[in-house]
Amino acid sequence: MSNELPIRKDLAGRTAYGAPQLNLPVQLNTNENPFPLSDLFMQDLSSAISGIATNLNRYPDRDAISLRAELASYISSSASTAIDPGQVWAANGSNEILQQICQLFGGPDRLAVGFVPSYSVHELIAQTTCTDWKSIPRNESFEIDSSSLSKLEKNSDIVFICTPNNPTGTKTSLQLIKEVHDHIQGIVVVDEAYAEFSEDVSAITLLEQLPRLLVVRTMSKAFALAGVRIGYLVASKDVIDSISLVRLPYHLSALTQAAGLVALKHQSQLAEQVKAIIVQRERIEKGLIHLGLKVAPSSANFVLFGEFADNHEVWRKLADRGVLIRDVGIEKWLRVTAGTEAETTKFLAELSKIVPTSPKET
Ligand SMILES: Cc1ncc(COP(=O)(O)O)c(C=O)c1O
Repeated sequence: MSNELPIRKDLAGRTAYGAPQLNLPVQLNTNENPFPLSDLFMQDLSSAISGIATNLNRYPDRDAISLRAELASYISSSASTAIDPGQVWAANGSNEILQQICQLFGGPDRLAVGFVPSYSVHELIAQTTCTDWKSIPRNESFEIDSSSLSKLEKNSDIVFICTPNNPTGTKTSLQLIKEVHDHIQGIVVVDEAYAEFSEDVSAITLLEQLPRLLVVRTMSKAFALAGVRIGYLVASKDVIDSISLVRLPYHLSALTQAAGLVALKHQSQLAEQVKAIIVQRERIEKGLIHLGLKVAPSSANFVLFGEFADNHEVWRKLADRGVLIRDVGIEKWLRVTAGTEAETTKFLAELSKIVPTSPKET
């Protein structure tokens, strides 16, 4: 970035966040759903878009009422707890939701905390909203335990808990989320971007008991809608009403809202795809262990594995062989997304040519 422009001092000299977008045959680097949308979905999407096209000279529904109502009904049935549309908010990806949360609850003289390694955008958004940041390390198994909790200050304004955690795949119990909520004066943001891949009960079920709990979800992963950009927040009505203080007017386009509604209509396909992705995640775990590698137990659609003397070198060699995975910046470890069966086969085959093996019985 230019050092000559009069940009904010705290941003000067920094580099932008983002995984390399390389056009390689096997893309297992950003935890997307590998399945393209079905023909029926595309037909419905085309007719929904034609239906609204004549009205695109007008601003969209500012409060995305229909989308939020359908999201509320999806959440109520999938999390088995009654959620009112007034408890749901939607935006352009959960990243925008996270930003709105930091705009509302963070800012100068406010403290946000995360348990690292975790989704680094939490820290990035805290910084760009001028919120102080504190990282508390997870234990050796990448979990949050009582020693991590003892480092949590009562006056924390925002605490992020990502579960299943990106990039480790490990999970955090509802009991621990409750302890964090009761320990601090601020809000607890549970990032459940990968909830559909986990068998665990969602933190959404705690909302009635915990007034300062906010649960963030996305349609980018299980819903296979990363290109559309829809994330959502489930929280108390008071929180949702307050978000309108920071949202930009008409932030969610009519096209985005229409696509989200079509995806929710096709949600029955989800279960099948999620099952198939979990099968590949399990195959990857077994295959990696067979190669003598360590694997962090994953409840998401990706696997963190290691340990390599030079993880970046392994990443590069795989990329040279057409397989794109992610170096998430954890020394010795790499992360791979569970893709299609063919993609898993290619990943394991290419990795086995790179990694010196000490095969174990499976
Ligand atoms: C934990 C977590 N939260 C949020 C996001 C952002 O997702 P999106 O903005 O596509 O909804 C991601 C994306 O990878 C993620 O891993």
